Amino acid sequence: MPIKVDKLAIDGGRQVIEFPLPTIKNATGRLIGEEEMTLVKEVIESGCLAYLYGEKVAEFEKRFAELYQIKHGVAVSSGTAALHTAMIYLDPDPGDEILVSPITDMGSVIPVLYQQAIPVFVDVDPFNQNMDPQAIEAKISSRTRGIMVTHIYGSPADMGPIMEIARKHDLFVIEDCAQAHMTEYRGRLAGTIGNIGCFSFQQSKHITTGDGGMVIADEDQRFGRRLRECFDKGWPRHKPGRDHNFLAPNYHMTELQAAVGIAQIQKYSISIVARREAAAKLDNLLREEEAFEPIGTLPDCRQTYFYYTFRLKLELLRANTETIIKALTAEGLTCEHGYPGPIPLYLYKMIREKKTFGKSGWPFNLPGGRKKWNFEEGLCPQAEKCCRETVILPWNERLQSDHVELIGAAIGKVLNAYKK
Ligand SMILES: Cc1ncc(COP(=O)(O)O)c(C=O)c1O
Repeated sequence: MPIKVDKLAIDGGRQVIEFPLPTIKNATGRLIGEEEMTLVKEVIESGCLAYLYGEKVAEFEKRFAELYQIKHGVAVSSGTAALHTAMIYLDPDPGDEILVSPITDMGSVIPVLYQQAIPVFVDVDPFNQNMDPQAIEAKISSRTRGIMVTHIYGSPADMGPIMEIARKHDLFVIEDCAQAHMTEYRGRLAGTIGNIGCFSFQQSKHITTGDGGMVIADEDQRFGRRLRECFDKGWPRHKPGRDHNFLAPNYHMTELQAAVGIAQIQKYSISIVARREAAAKLDNLLREEEAFEPIGTLPDCRQTYFYYTFRLKLELLRANTETIIKALTAEGLTCEHGYPGPIPLYLYKMIREKKTFGKSGWPFNLPGGRKKWNFEEGLCPQAEKCCRETVILPWNERLQSDHVELIGAAIGKVLNAYKK
């Protein structure tokens, strides 16, 4: 006998969620208040908004590095700027290759291309949608210089085997922790395991400065470059006079952003505990929904729920992901189809059609390149399947138990309605 379900809102039934839930877009879903105001006011009153003459950027960097128990933290203007700084530090030759995940933000790949290196996509493990260590070695060539490991959704990639492969092939490892603040991998924090860790403080992240980023490293000067010069016009400001050692942009954070960052850093644990509690509640509410599969966390690791992410077992449903998303949206739930959308990164126009520098198509077709680079469907089948089946729920630290109950009820209602 078919199960009786409430009429879906998309078919004219009553919405499950009838008021806006807390969102990262404004104060309802963020912990921004008096502490930030006090420090920002101090900066305004000082009349100094630039790191060069102020103290707030230096203090934010110091506190971030202390939190991560690492020698250096350098604050920059965005997560993309952080990853670009790391790429400038790595200093590839044009046409060198960097292994990247197809399930990440375009901000991970843009810095690779600006340094005239080729992003080589490695397929993911559907368990957590992070780069699959078993797929890495097949993609290593004589031109591979590094691996950019994204810890997507706040769930850590499998850094143990990844670091083993990196050591074996002498590869530099950049950890993209834009979505993985305070994420734990077997007793270590994501961002401290590879050579360099990069963070984003854009509005949606675990803590925010509006836009902003941080690069952390136990800098080894292996490349003869100082990290700070890599986002400061190549300028060795620790020496008297002016000089410019190599090509580099200006990606400084301002004193105003750093003032907010100093206040925000003290709210990390509240933010992460709240995100985990809300996620555990949703796991529990939906544990018997057969078509619902939250993404996994590796053993002895802890994720920090940038998003709450789940895959639909489409074989158990009479609808595709797009229809489910439309029905959830009609129930009042904000959600999105996959990350970075319903297709992996390499199927977006910029990469697929090589829209880079003028009409050149560089670096994909630099003279003397190793091969012809094509980015088409079928390149990373697991990633393509994940994108097709994944639903992401923007998550935040102000979601209360009754909000999560409504989210669970909306998902349960829709999945039941479309059950085969
Ligand atoms: C995984 C990942 N990498 C890099 C970035 C780029 O960060 P930003 O937007 O601060 O430049 C983002 C931003 O969303 C991200 O999610």
